[in-house]
Amino acid sequence: MIDTRPTPMGNIKFYFLWIFLIQRFMIGFTASMSVSNLTTDQSMLLEFKNQILDPHDVLASNWSSTSSVCHWVGVSCSAHHGRVSILDLSNMGLKGTIAPHLGNLSFLVSLNLSGNNFHGYLPKELAKLHRLKLIDLSYNAFNGEIPSWFGALHKVKYLILGNNTFTGTIPPTLANMSNLETLDLGHNMIHGKIPYEIGDLQKLKMFRVRYNQLFGSIPSSIFNISSLRLISLTNNTLSGNFLELKIF
Ligand SMILES: *[C@@H]1O[C@H](CO)[C@@H](O)[C@H](O)[C@H]1NC(C)=O
Ligand SMILES: *[C@@H]1O[C@H](CO)[C@@H](O)[C@H](O)[C@H]1NC(C)=O
Ligand SMILES: *[C@@H]1O[C@H](CO)[C@@H](O)[C@H](O)[C@H]1NC(C)=O
Ligand SMILES: *[C@@H]1O[C@H](CO)[C@@H](O)[C@H](O)[C@H]1NC(C)=O
Ligand SMILES: *[C@@H]1O[C@H](CO)[C@@H](O)[C@H](O)[C@H]1NC(C)=O
Ligand SMILES: *[C@@H]1O[C@H](CO)[C@@H](O)[C@H](O)[C@H]1NC(C)=O
Ligand SMILES: *[C@@H]1O[C@H](CO)[C@@H](O)[C@H](O)[C@H]1NC(C)=O
Repeated sequence: MIDTRPTPMGNIKFYFLWIFLIQRFMIGFTASMSVSNLTTDQSMLLEFKNQILDPHDVLASNWSSTSSVCHWVGVSCSAHHGRVSILDLSNMGLKGTIAPHLGNLSFLVSLNLSGNNFHGYLPKELAKLHRLKLIDLSYNAFNGEIPSWFGALHKVKYLILGNNTFTGTIPPTLANMSNLETLDLGHNMIHGKIPYEIGDLQKLKMFRVRYNQLFGSIPSSIFNISSLRLISLTNNTLSGNFLELKIF
């Protein structure tokens, strides 16, 4: 009779082979994951580019898949994750709407699209960018209501939406943006009352809503924000004496 049961030695060899295979698999898996993630950033930005006009050809040849996305004009990657963390396309004469794919740039910290000709609604997919600290969309032609999903972006310090054609009212959910220091909604077409909840923004330093169609009284809660240094309310139909206030 031949004993076909594996010897203890055979078992140990088998065990080490397994460990080896599992390790190889894990290394291959994580490597392909991080590669595909920066590749994801690249393809999302190419989707974004496909949806806009670039009359000065700023991105045309520069945003090419033959060079790393981290070396593209207006794009910076973080040293820590090696992923796209800053998108600064300010003053490039770009035109068009924002592709929802931008919401897949999950390591984005700073988004500055100021001084272009972007229009349309802000896609709700941007609410997924929970690492964002800076959003500057000023001097464009964005329209639609100021999205209530901004309230999901808790790390944002600068929310600058001035000089667009936003309509509707100020969503009370902005009060969820507990780290907000600058809120600039000036020069839009926003109407309604200033929500009482804005007073919850205890880190707010600058609150600008001038040149809109806001009415009613200024909520007293705002004067409870001890960090506040500048309130700019002119050219609305708000009641009260505080139209432009600098507190130092
Ligand atoms: C793209 O622009 C950046 C910044 O101006 C520059 O460093 C880079 O060399 C350019 N890449 C290509 C492929 O033109
Ligand atoms: C990125 O976003 C788009 C639109 O929001 C979605 O359809 C797509 O599945 C996402 N792609 C990846 C690779 O995450
Ligand atoms: C966005 O870019 C413009 C133009 O470069 C700059 O003036 C502005 O300060 C930037 N926004 C923020 C919040 O840093
Ligand atoms: C804002 O916070 C309230 C609770 O304070 C919560 O019910 C609501 O879902 C939050 N909204 C967003 C957009 O995060
Ligand atoms: C909006 O435009 C006015 C007038 O040009 C300017 O004074 C103001 O600083 C701008 N505000 C923002 C946030 O872009
Ligand atoms: C201002 O803050 C104080 C102390 O936290 C609170 O008692 C009061 O109700 C607040 N007033 C307003 C108008 O929110
Ligand atoms: C802004 O308000 C001031 C003072 O009320 C007024 O003189 C000026 O005409 C207004 N500007 C616009 C563009 O409505």
